[in-house]
Amino acid sequence: MDKFIIRGGAPLCGEVAVSGSKNSALPALAACLLTSDPVTLNRVPRVRDIRTMERLLAYTGAEVDAGEDGRVTVAARNIARPEAPYELVKTMRASSLALGPLVARLGRARVSLPGGCAIGARPINLHVSGLEQLGARIRQSHGYIEAEVPEGLQGAWIHFDRITVTGTEDLLMAATLARGETVIENAAREPEVADLAELLTKMGADIEGAGTSTIRVRGVERLHGAEHTIIADRIEAGTFLIAGAITGGEVVVRECAPKHLAALVARLRQAGCEVKPAGTGALRVKSRGKLRSVDVTTEEYPGFATDLQAQYMALMTQAEGISFITESIFENRFMHALELARMGANIRIEGRQAIVAGPRTLSGAGVIASDLRASASLMLAGLVAGGETLIDRVYHIDRGYEGIERKLQKLGAQIQRVID
Ligand code: EPZ
Repeated sequence: MDKFIIRGGAPLCGEVAVSGSKNSALPALAACLLTSDPVTLNRVPRVRDIRTMERLLAYTGAEVDAGEDGRVTVAARNIARPEAPYELVKTMRASSLALGPLVARLGRARVSLPGGCAIGARPINLHVSGLEQLGARIRQSHGYIEAEVPEGLQGAWIHFDRITVTGTEDLLMAATLARGETVIENAAREPEVADLAELLTKMGADIEGAGTSTIRVRGVERLHGAEHTIIADRIEAGTFLIAGAITGGEVVVRECAPKHLAALVARLRQAGCEVKPAGTGALRVKSRGKLRSVDVTTEEYPGFATDLQAQYMALMTQAEGISFITESIFENRFMHALELARMGANIRIEGRQAIVAGPRTLSGAGVIASDLRASASLMLAGLVAGGETLIDRVYHIDRGYEGIERKLQKLGAQIQRVID
């Protein structure tokens, strides 16, 4: 398994261009199952989770043409196997995004239950109950969800008991081919949902309200091919803003969507960083020495993203004072705290809250990545720690960050990948 060796201490300076959003490209790829026409997506990040989704589409029988330049064309002419097998789903739970499109297009689907995940139980009960409200008959057997609705889906009024991003995306896709009108209440407002809706609309869907908490969909007979460019990855962009801040450097993050980063930018400014626009689609972060501790609670968009919580915690280990970090989305998303503590951080976990006392000088250590964003947190800590940090299991990072070590090296980081 590949490792990263990082020698900390260098302030990061320079410019970095953000890749397309993994969490927008995943539902967009699943949406290709909704039509037999070719669909072309641009700016698809070349990361592990995307390759897994491409394998899943090919498994169902779709033709997938993925270039290294981020352009992917999918033609789901004949779906021979409307299935998402366990061996793929166990490596990437977002495979459940195939459920809605397969049921909508073919009237049946067999999708493995995702099983456990490092950051929490992450069930898909809301996806299932939503599809049942659209008329699908669903049973669970041998670890699989089996759905069927030979007569086709029927529009319905759906209210999510709690906000779910991929649950909203799954049902939004299913509703585009359901007869009649579907209303999704308490829908996720993440930019990735709005980006999916933009693609679906280009494919001929009739959608209103995507990006708000109420989405209205009028079903159509069929969808057709389209071309779409995926939005910037706001979590990658946020990770690089924090990298500039934690190392006391000056970094310009380009080709991003500043409006998607408002919650993080507000905290960075409160913590004493200078964050300013640097032209269209670019932000400049400059750390002016001492950082102040600032509390944060993760929330659904437009609140502070749970996917930036681990990275923010690394930053707060360098801030003056006590910061309270509350994780309200997932029940077990503090694994990075234990590894940060091994590097010298002063962090106490009390239920859903992490209490960080700083500033603490971190020292390089051997650490193990446990999930995608925890890995990013350890990388950030390594950039500021004295000495050498060895991060094991960097395949977690490769799931969601495209060429991360090359991008950091260009900013002056001393980071090398050791291929094992
Ligand atoms: C999406 O996951 C993202 N993944 C996650 O990013 C992100 O952390 C999460 O949204 C929250 O923003 C993708 O978009 C591919 P949820 P998702 O359904 O949709 C509970 C990353 O690092 N829930 O919004 O799976 C669930 O357990 C990844 O890129 C149910 O109880 O998250 C969680 O506590 C990690 N039943 C909460 O809702 C359900 O049926 C929010 O989960 C569905 C969800």
